[in-house]
Amino acid sequence: MDHLRHHAIRESSHRILDPFTDDQLATLGRALRLDPGATVLDLACGKGELLCTWARDHGTVGTGVDLNPAFVDAARERAASLGVDVVVELGDAAGYVSPTPVDVACCIGATWIGDGAVGTLDLLARSLAPRGVALVGEPFWRSDPPEAARAIGDFHTFPGLVAAVQDAGWDVIEMVLADEASWDRYVAAQWLNLRRFLDEHPDDPLAPAFRDELTTAPLDYVTNQRPYLGWGVLALVRRP
Ligand SMILES: C[S@@+](CC[C@H](N)C(=O)[O-])C[C@H]1O[C@@H](n2cnc3c(N)ncnc32)[C@H](O)[C@@H]1O
Repeated sequence: MDHLRHHAIRESSHRILDPFTDDQLATLGRALRLDPGATVLDLACGKGELLCTWARDHGTVGTGVDLNPAFVDAARERAASLGVDVVVELGDAAGYVSPTPVDVACCIGATWIGDGAVGTLDLLARSLAPRGVALVGEPFWRSDPPEAARAIGDFHTFPGLVAAVQDAGWDVIEMVLADEASWDRYVAAQWLNLRRFLDEHPDDPLAPAFRDELTTAPLDYVTNQRPYLGWGVLALVRRP
């Protein structure tokens, strides 16, 4: 299976590749009280919407890294169309350290690059200026999930996630959380993308996998994910 192409097709209509809406992403940018000229590094930046809209709205200067060429192309096009100071590199973000310390370092929805939230914070810390802000976007269980839901992943509860990052030596200084409606915009919008792709490309090598997914994913989502899985971005500063 061509996983990069698979993701590019399922998320073809999305600019934000996580359960935030435009408004939630903007709320987070405002909450951080970003100064013009502040530097932002986004590891696994997807289509670069965080970097590009915060550069437009707050005058920040962005660098992104992502390994999906389709997403990197989209991020570069978005930066050009908004005329913002954002550079996006194609590559593996696991182990990536900025050559110059940055004011904000993020990993939103891809903390596997550091083996989880705490390991990813360790990675982000290597790029941060003193008192710089780290952002991690991470799923968590909102309530005790049934066994079938646990197959989605091995996540903390929300208090467990906050406790884990605090225990690792970070102050939580802000947070913005997704909700069920914003999760729907991320997940359900993928079903329309799949259906349109299947109608237009019935003989594509990915068509059988997409057909299976469209048959099972909506019921699985409303049964096992929507009632139980939360998601949010924590903003953190390392304790002295
Ligand atoms: C759920 S998406 C989140 C994208 C973006 N942070 C956002 O919130 O819109 C996960 C992203 O991680 C990227 N990714 C996964 N593993 C990566 C790695 N090792 N290095 C760089 N990017 C990676 C994927 O290509 C994808 O863009």
